Amino acid sequence: MGSDENTISPTRTLLLAAWGIFREYWILLIPLFISFRFLCKRYVSPLRDYPGPFLASCSRIWKLMSTASERTHLDHIALHRKYGPIVRVAPNELSFASPMVARNVLSAGKRFYKTDFYSVFPPPENPDIFTEVREDVHAMKKKVANVPYSMAAMRQLSPFIDDTIDFLVSRLDQFCPDTAIPGFQQAGLPGRNTIVNLGDWLHFFAFDVLGEVAFGRSFGFMAAGVDKEGAIKTIDNSQKYNGIVGQIPEVDILLRRNPLWRWIPAFNPENALITRIAREELAKRRPFEIERDGKGASSDGREDLLSSLIRGHLKDKTKFHEGDIFAVSHGAIFAGSDSTASTMQSFFYQVLSSPRVYMKLINEIEAATRNGTIAPQGNVQWTEAQNLPYFQACLKEAMRLRPAVGVNIQRYVPPEGIEVEGRHLPGGTRLSLNGWVLHRDKATFGQDAEFYRPERWLDDPENAKVMERYMFQFGGGAHVCIGRNLALLEINKVIPRLLRDFEFELAYPGRELKAKATFFVVQEGLEVYISRKSLAEQQLSEKVSEKETITTTTEE
Ligand code: HEM
Repeated sequence: MGSDENTISPTRTLLLAAWGIFREYWILLIPLFISFRFLCKRYVSPLRDYPGPFLASCSRIWKLMSTASERTHLDHIALHRKYGPIVRVAPNELSFASPMVARNVLSAGKRFYKTDFYSVFPPPENPDIFTEVREDVHAMKKKVANVPYSMAAMRQLSPFIDDTIDFLVSRLDQFCPDTAIPGFQQAGLPGRNTIVNLGDWLHFFAFDVLGEVAFGRSFGFMAAGVDKEGAIKTIDNSQKYNGIVGQIPEVDILLRRNPLWRWIPAFNPENALITRIAREELAKRRPFEIERDGKGASSDGREDLLSSLIRGHLKDKTKFHEGDIFAVSHGAIFAGSDSTASTMQSFFYQVLSSPRVYMKLINEIEAATRNGTIAPQGNVQWTEAQNLPYFQACLKEAMRLRPAVGVNIQRYVPPEGIEVEGRHLPGGTRLSLNGWVLHRDKATFGQDAEFYRPERWLDDPENAKVMERYMFQFGGGAHVCIGRNLALLEINKVIPRLLRDFEFELAYPGRELKAKATFFVVQEGLEVYISRKSLAEQQLSEKVSEKETITTTTEE
């Protein structure tokens, strides 16, 4: 017994020896181990033959740094220019530049599923349509949410979008020399009008529309004329976090998912303006079982997103849970605000940067006003905007060159793997797609794909159809953007109206619009001079329009 106690097992001897060596040489051993791991990732990997930055081939540091720099959209353009159509951006991740590959990867039924990148987006306890990575659960939720997002449902909410546009116009009026309220104008240069941050107003507008559509009430950003309670900034910061930490989702548990944050009021997401409003509206509509006036439960009887989701929940509580109502409606604000604002900012920036394009567009809008294609006053209707071919071309071209999502969309290769250009990619490999890269493909969009040229959409209708197939500004397949009808509806209504009623001029022509890719591309610096188109001009166009109507009637 005594000898047993004194005997040290061989395993223990080995461990003690190893520990002794480690204690003595740890300063050498740790870097050696890290280098070994790096080299294994670099060279002992099925992706080893793909080109890319050295750092990217052995660790995720490259993509982490690129995302943190907020210039990852530009990094990816540069990367593909340097290395070609397929680039290794992390040990287990390839970025593709080909729109054909992207179409295939994003197509429904091809089983390229969302990666854990999406799992860091809030709310973690109850994923919404954007963050849900379980495909079957996603499909169930999307089926319910598709109803309120349909174009028919959106058109039904059109009057509320119209009111918000009227309000935006009245706010912009306050900056114009003829219509300004005395004392309202600030920061004007001598002899010039006020410089207006049009980018900010479009941002406020996009938020207020979402408030109306989702919760039946405006968030009040345009009324305040500022980012109330820093709510927009909070969302932007949250998106920045998602973009960066999404590259290394494992650490989310130590950061945002860390339960300790709940005890620090400033870090508690429940305190943010948008979340508070969403919670308040939801509380007002309880109990869900009682449907007021048979019209959902919004305060003024309108069928907003929230009431439609409540209806979806009541229809089948097992498929669309109570928690989904909040998650989906709240998620809409995150997914739909910066994206729509960014798209409108890109449009104005591109158009105003090219006097030729701006003139041509204004000529189209003025002619359309004169000949009755669009109303000479008040709001422009969706169908009217569809009859402005040059405007449509300018919009598509803006979404092509500066798509609103700037960070890579990621998908896994299905478990059985795939063949790419004669090479096998194992299941679980990550594929990355970036709209800023895909939309610059010269084979698809022409040799001048780098340039803003709306005419490319009008030159040849057959070619335009092909280009349309390879546009990914709204993603694609089963995960195509659910809010695209809403976004396009408001954009098609508000932009032609603004171009019809105001004159714009960039305050700093030639200055680049700052584009920070957090998840969406948050843009800053769209500052303009603005003036009301003269009343005389508008009356003239109305008279011409009347005259033309009389002539047409007589001819008939
Ligand atoms: C011009 C404006 C918009 C753009 C450019 C845009 C862009 C996109 C893109 C690229 C995706 C796919 C992302 C991915 O697969 O990782 C997406 C998905 C999504 N978008 Fe939008 N979006 C816009 C407006 C909106 C609006 C207004 C809403 C809601 C009110 C919205 C809600 C969503 C949701 C819920 C998803 C997830 C869909 C799914 O996975 O099934 N978006 N959007």
